[in-house]
Amino acid sequence: MLLKRVGAGGQPAPSPAEAPAAPGASSGNPYSQAAPMPNTYNQSPVMPTAVPGPNSSPIIPGQGLPSVLVDKNKLRDFRNQIVQRIQSSIGPNTVLTRDDKTIRELASKFKTFYDQLQLSLPADQQRMLFDEILAEMVGFGPLEPLLSDESITEIMVNGPNQIYIEQKGKLKEIDTTFENDDHVMRVINRIIAPLGRRVDRKWPMVDARLPDGSRVNAIIPPCSLKGPTITIRKFNKKPLTWQDLVRFGTVTEDMMMFLEACIRAKLNMVVAGGTGSGKTTLLNVLSSFIPDDERIITIEDAAELQLVQRHVISLESKPADVDGSGRVEIRDLVKNSLRMRPERIVVGECRGGETLDMLQAMNTGHDGSLTTLHANTPRDTLSRLETMCLMSGMDLPIRVLREQVSSAINLIVQQARLRDGTRKVINITEVQGMEENNIVLQDVFTWVEEGQDENGKVLGALKPTGLRPKFEDKLKLIGYKLPPSMFGGSIPGMKDIYGNNNNRRIR
Ligand SMILES: Nc1ncnc2c1ncn2[C@@H]1O[C@H](COP(=O)(O)OP(=O)(O)OP(=O)(O)O)[C@@H](O)[C@H]1O
Ligand SMILES: [Mg+2]
Repeated sequence: MLLKRVGAGGQPAPSPAEAPAAPGASSGNPYSQAAPMPNTYNQSPVMPTAVPGPNSSPIIPGQGLPSVLVDKNKLRDFRNQIVQRIQSSIGPNTVLTRDDKTIRELASKFKTFYDQLQLSLPADQQRMLFDEILAEMVGFGPLEPLLSDESITEIMVNGPNQIYIEQKGKLKEIDTTFENDDHVMRVINRIIAPLGRRVDRKWPMVDARLPDGSRVNAIIPPCSLKGPTITIRKFNKKPLTWQDLVRFGTVTEDMMMFLEACIRAKLNMVVAGGTGSGKTTLLNVLSSFIPDDERIITIEDAAELQLVQRHVISLESKPADVDGSGRVEIRDLVKNSLRMRPERIVVGECRGGETLDMLQAMNTGHDGSLTTLHANTPRDTLSRLETMCLMSGMDLPIRVLREQVSSAINLIVQQARLRDGTRKVINITEVQGMEENNIVLQDVFTWVEEGQDENGKVLGALKPTGLRPKFEDKLKLIGYKLPPSMFGGSIPGMKDIYGNNNNRRIR
């Protein structure tokens, strides 16, 4: 660590390295309603030790008839026929749960219908068939293998015939498909039924969570023209840590230590970025720097944050009940949190009128609050903040709004997903205050792009702009002495990714 930190009372302040590690896979998402439920799809389907084969001899994995290539379509046909027969034998609307008893019963039904169809498949294909039937009957069908593949971070089902995944930051189409719209609908219903939600033509969209905490959105016809569409943001069982972000080249160690000092100095921060740029991940990392002895209230639409501190209250908004009443919005939760003696308020994402309440909270003694929002540059972030404040319904003059914004927010951390799929913190920008009617912004760190290599990898560097933030005194007060080297020297003529001179004030 480059930074020499002296904590209050002359004690060395803990460094990010000493900060508690992010919770491991075992902790799951403690805030998720669905968290206590067992993870039903991440374990590979339990094949009964003796699934009877066509001639009633038990299958031993790896043994049996030699594998011959059975046409993929034929196998799918067998699967569909057996699934249909099993489903009609148990009642068309029965939704099964994955447990040993159900799997044993399914194995015995599988044997019956397998024999009835007079199939004769090699052992490995029989096993594959049974696994697929299990996935259909007690899992999420064709999504099962995608859900259990940890290298896949996002799954996008665009109607029955098109599935895209995100892997290593890149989107690609895969050759898995669903049978038809009904098949996709069955999987959607399997996801939302245990949560007591439903989706139909009258209300054709739903947000839900998988048992492991993964975030799911489904939208169906008539609103989705391509057929039922599912978007799944996989839950990271092992949340990324600040060390991971440094290792991936998202931030430098200097930037991370600077941000740690800012969190500890209770600066108010906004993490901004495009969709999927890594805002929530960074917010989680930044929140891990909040000292253990502070009372933290987190507010989210679908709880994604995984804070490691003990004194954390997690609040989640709530959709309306079937009769349309009982909706609790982020805004209600922000207001309520102010009556809960918060020391830090962390709002997962500001999307509307709650922004004004959040800014007011920041301006009235709830320093050190954090949030994220969708915006592509620090300047856009300011415009978004203003627009969202207006969404609160308060008709405030623009000058008053800007004053609210500039006195509430100290720092904007701008994240981006570059065209090669990597995520970068492209600006760490200080909000310095007002000059006439404008808010003055000043980059402290910025990403300087230098082209791309032959493989399309974006080249560049994360650099300090050479300018020290005005709030540096606040950091000194809590014992952080930031070395001049952290802020680097200015580089004459260097342009940032917007083509601006690096050392110029952005206005
Ligand atoms: N720095 C990073 N390097 C690599 N992958 C990352 C990084 N940050 C986040 N990710 C991955 O990118 C995906 C999106 O991250 P995250 O949910 O934080 O984005 P987001 O900006 O909050 O998205 P949204 O706009 O949908 O809320 C996740 O799968 C996450 O694990
Ligand atoms: Mg997010």
